[in-house]
Amino acid sequence: MFVIDTIAELTKTVAKVKSEGKTIGFVPTMGALHDGHLSLIKRARAENEVVFVSIFVNPVQFNNQDDLAKYPRTLERDLELIGDYADYAFAPSVEEVFPTPPTEKYHFGPVEEVMEGAARPGHFNGVGVIVRRLLDWVQPDKAYFGEKDYQQIAVIRELVRQCDIKSEIVPCPTVREPNGLAMSSRNRRLTPEQFETSANIHRILVESLELEDVPQIKAFVESEIAKYPEFKLDYFEMADADTLQTVHHLDDAAGVMGFITVYVGEVRLIDNIRYK
Ligand code: PAF
Repeated sequence: MFVIDTIAELTKTVAKVKSEGKTIGFVPTMGALHDGHLSLIKRARAENEVVFVSIFVNPVQFNNQDDLAKYPRTLERDLELIGDYADYAFAPSVEEVFPTPPTEKYHFGPVEEVMEGAARPGHFNGVGVIVRRLLDWVQPDKAYFGEKDYQQIAVIRELVRQCDIKSEIVPCPTVREPNGLAMSSRNRRLTPEQFETSANIHRILVESLELEDVPQIKAFVESEIAKYPEFKLDYFEMADADTLQTVHHLDDAAGVMGFITVYVGEVRLIDNIRYK
């Protein structure tokens, strides 16, 4: 695997791969890689001739500077982990990607106005800024994203549509710890006790699948989460799986999902589940 840290070298490498007529699979990451990322990278490996992975903690998608400062950075270990699966790792500095502060403004419409978009002002614009630049530089045939960040995928689909980007966006299932907790780079900030308790988030969502309709599901999830003093519920929303707009009944949409965000101590965890 080759490690690239400049845009000039990246675009030169991409041009060479393209001139050889090879397909490109791309996995954008912010590092602190875990088995969830590896599952994306392995899928990219299986479906493409050349695999690029980016490792870049994107400052402009953090609306909370403390969260940015505490975001785990483990580049050496990340490179070791992906060495057998990726052909190229792009790990630029912040100055390389943003020599001047970015000024792009995106409007993704209703999919960005709810949940994470409402809770984290500017977050999805920051995601749009970096993902657009990365897709422009890497020009992948396919780009892979985890469904834990389901709303992010909806926003990126809208970005790709608006900007007429040719890459296919490939959503991949959430990978879970043996205890059920959705894998996330943030999990490593949990204490061992918090890590075990956090497994209840997924357990509660799974148990809620047995309930009849939205009001019962919402009441159940909210009351179960409240039983854990370590948890602070940010939101639990039931929404149309396509538009991400709130539903009041399971019959309101063809696909319905539940989206949850919980603070465990200072760590903000997100997860989701499909009801139909
Ligand atoms: O999902 C992530 O890790 C990030 O939001 C992404 C897509 C790499 C953009 O920085």
